[in-house]
Amino acid sequence: MKIRRPREADYPQAKAMLADAGLPAEDFAADYLAFVAEDAGEIVAAVGFQALGDVGLLRSLVVAEGTRFKGLGRQLVSELEAHAVEQGVREIWLLTRGVDRYFLALGYATRDRAQVPPEIRNTTEFAELCPEDATVMSKKLG
Ligand SMILES: CC(C)(COP(=O)(O)OP(=O)(O)OC[C@H]1O[C@@H](n2cnc3c(N)ncnc32)[C@H](O)[C@@H]1OP(=O)(O)O)[C@@H](O)C(=O)NCCC(=O)NCCS
Repeated sequence: MKIRRPREADYPQAKAMLADAGLPAEDFAADYLAFVAEDAGEIVAAVGFQALGDVGLLRSLVVAEGTRFKGLGRQLVSELEAHAVEQGVREIWLLTRGVDRYFLALGYATRDRAQVPPEIRNTTEFAELCPEDATVMSKKLG
């Protein structure tokens, strides 16, 4: 198992994994793919990220069903956070449905929609793709 930065050829597979997991994939551009996990030549996990100045949107964390509960999701989030810090991001935001307890354990806090910075609010995922009942969370880095 190897966690690495994505290559162009990983994108279709990663996008298909998102769609299979019921996550928003329509607007998921190749640029958003931040890290993938590869096992025996197959992509088994992926995480997306949009850096928007000093804030960023974690989107589309997905781990293949047969590979879950082995710490892979946690490792991907940790790699992503380190990468975000290097890019000057000071707070990561995300939207989730049903997985808020997972992110609470990773140090994310539930936030009110009124607290969401405009850069995040204007993303397609936030503005159009994620339903009103999604939980908004964020974590300050550093
Ligand atoms: C959510 C998801 C990414 C977790 O990935 P994973 O690699 O299985 O998670 P990890 O192995 O890193 O789990 C770490 C911890 O979280 C717990 N956990 C895993 N999935 C959880 C869930 N859905 N809800 C609450 N806790 C969860 C694990 O039990 C583990 O706890 P422990 O450290 O106390 O043993 C994966 O289940 C998934 O792809 N789900 C479908 C897509 C999705 O909803 N993504 C979130 C979009 S924002």
